[in-house]
Amino acid sequence: MSTAAGNGRVRTEPWGDTVLVEFDEGIAWVTLNRPDKRNAMNPALNDEMVRVLDHLEGDDRCRVLVLTGAGESFSAGMDLKEYFREVDATGSTAVQIRVRRASAEWQWKRLANWSKPTIAMVNGWCFGGAFTPLVACDLAFADEDAQFGLSEVNWGIPPGGVVSRALAATVPQRDALYHIMTGEPFDGRRAAQMRLVNEALPAGRLRERTREVALKLASMNQVVLHAAKTGYKIAQEMPWEQAEDYLYAKLDQSQFADKAGARAKGLTQFLDQKSYRPGLSAFDPEK
Ligand code: COA
Repeated sequence: MSTAAGNGRVRTEPWGDTVLVEFDEGIAWVTLNRPDKRNAMNPALNDEMVRVLDHLEGDDRCRVLVLTGAGESFSAGMDLKEYFREVDATGSTAVQIRVRRASAEWQWKRLANWSKPTIAMVNGWCFGGAFTPLVACDLAFADEDAQFGLSEVNWGIPPGGVVSRALAATVPQRDALYHIMTGEPFDGRRAAQMRLVNEALPAGRLRERTREVALKLASMNQVVLHAAKTGYKIAQEMPWEQAEDYLYAKLDQSQFADKAGARAKGLTQFLDQKSYRPGLSAFDPEK
């Protein structure tokens, strides 16, 4: 897509208004960029994120996506003014359907099923609707002092969208209902205890640790990683018999699609060359 940038140049990449993207050794750092509004997700940001995800899926500079927020916030959730009040004021069901669709498309549908690994890096405030992209990412790391909250009940609504569904996929019921029903915030340490995020880290270590994991994933076989994560996500909704059949099909599909021949090389290096131990590290695809 080409758009006229403010400086008169034609912009060919679909970000720059409410989202920033920086590339770094195979990592695409995707930053929600409305710091003055604590990165609240308005319809413009939701539309932009749909375009960003579509673009990055085909961009070789991105092997892993890290989602974070500008300034002191990951995201303060749905934009209460632009996503709720102003859409209500239109009185238009068609407008409501359109903005809800764009929101769901990136925060959940595209992100949860993305073909490349995804990591949420929660650098600060994370409220309400922000739980959806947080959980949709494959992995999550948080500042131990970041504040999380299901604040919906505090201003008169139950959590909407798939926020409660996302909680149910990650957090035990007692913890989920406590925070859904009381609206009490919690910090990154507690988020890690509840398994909402993989790890909580001091602010000064957050980016370094996230980058370390992202670089590891960026160095790995992308076809195999895609099959592994999709297999897990889809199979968890299946009866066991179907899961077994599906996961074997996924294994066969992965071998077919993997032009690097990872499986054959891995077997050769372990069984014949005795040059590595798969239980201890990934094999070297170059050997
Ligand atoms: N929707 C719309 N605007 C929001 C917003 C949201 N979810 N969260 C913050 N903002 C806006 C504020 O209205 C304010 O705008 P203004 O400068 O035009 O007045 C600006 O962002 C800064 O917010 P402020 O409350 O002054 O920042 P803070 O650092 O003191 O507090 C929060 C940060 C996140 C604790 C607080 O903004 C908050 O509680 N936000 C709502 C969170 C929420 O309930 N989200 C659930 C939505 S589903």
